[in-house]
Amino acid sequence: MSVRFAIEPLAKTHKRSSFTCGNDRIDNYFRETVSQDVRRKYATCFIARDMERDQVAGFYTLSSSNVPLNEVPESQARKLPRYPTVPAVLIGWLARHSDYAGQGLGEALLFDAIKTVAIAPIGAHAIFADAIDDKAAAFYTAFGFTALIGRPRTLYLPVATALSLVSAST
Ligand SMILES: CC(C)(COP(=O)(O)OP(=O)(O)OC[C@H]1O[C@@H](n2cnc3c(N)ncnc32)[C@H](O)[C@@H]1OP(=O)(O)O)[C@@H](O)C(=O)NCCC(=O)NCCS
Repeated sequence: MSVRFAIEPLAKTHKRSSFTCGNDRIDNYFRETVSQDVRRKYATCFIARDMERDQVAGFYTLSSSNVPLNEVPESQARKLPRYPTVPAVLIGWLARHSDYAGQGLGEALLFDAIKTVAIAPIGAHAIFADAIDDKAAAFYTAFGFTALIGRPRTLYLPVATALSLVSAST
């Protein structure tokens, strides 16, 4: 990502009311609900700020969660301990403002989320995301995420695999 953007934890100074990514549900969530989720510690939220325009260019949220072991694709599940769930971090929402479509910002947000999870001092074997539609699912699939068994729009990637993806691209 170019130095044009700074990734920062969501703060009161960030203007959320004009954020638009092309999906009303995501826009409404970011404009109206995300700060409550952060306050209640249901999620953390990081934004990409366009430093020149002082505008929110994109955001993502992270929440602690887990994935039932019996929903993890067999090729990966077979290497895991037989606990009923796999500790994981959920990317609940991730979007970039329409002004920045196709400029690599979605990828930069995803990679930042992966790095944030990887350095957090709490165990998380995997990162997963709830894709809002098939296009969003295709976005995650393009980066190696695979669908959970029976949940085609819930995409899953071990953190170790995600990190190798990030380091290969830098
Ligand atoms: C999905 C989204 C974040 C992608 O952001 P973006 O900045 O436009 O995408 P980028 O420019 O970073 O694209 C990165 C790579 O992913 C690919 N990509 C982007 N969207 C894709 C899609 N829907 N399917 C497959 N690949 C996709 C790009 O082709 C690009 O690959 P390349 O580098 O080989 O060309 C953006 O479309 C968005 O905010 N959509 C609305 C919200 C949404 O659907 N969020 C998803 C989580 S719910």
